Amino acid sequence: MSSKLSDRRIEQLALAAVDACGRAYAPYSKFEVGAAILLEDGQVMAGCNVENASYGLSLCAERAAAAAAVSAGHRKWRGVAIASVGGVPPCGACRQFLAEFGLNTPIILVNLIDGARTVCNLSELLPRSFNAADLPGQV
Ligand code: THU
Repeated sequence: MSSKLSDRRIEQLALAAVDACGRAYAPYSKFEVGAAILLEDGQVMAGCNVENASYGLSLCAERAAAAAAVSAGHRKWRGVAIASVGGVPPCGACRQFLAEFGLNTPIILVNLIDGARTVCNLSELLPRSFNAADLPGQV
């Protein structure tokens, strides 16, 4: 279940994603992305994309933020904001990665060009998803 985020929460999360974007390490693509996750207790965990000279090893901002949240012991999330030039939606791999911790998570896309915040839901971005229930022997 996802509950609707207040405008104040959306703004808090959007600003955290913009802030994280400022820490992006993207010397190869020059495409900087920041992500911020609102935890159940109101805390925010952030991440940015981290590229590598061995291009394929590059880590997306969403997965960096997700790994930070889980590593800090937080698996229940109320929303995820992603900031970039253009306010692009998460890549397919990140959609799947985020879905592990809640397919109904609200997603806020922040466009650094015009400041637009677009709110959608992860379930819209990842229809007919694969999840743990599809694995034999899992609940
Ligand atoms: N990137 C993200 O951080 N998140 C996405 O969902 C899409 C792509 C990053 C990866 C790479 O560092 C750069 O954007 C260009 O693809």
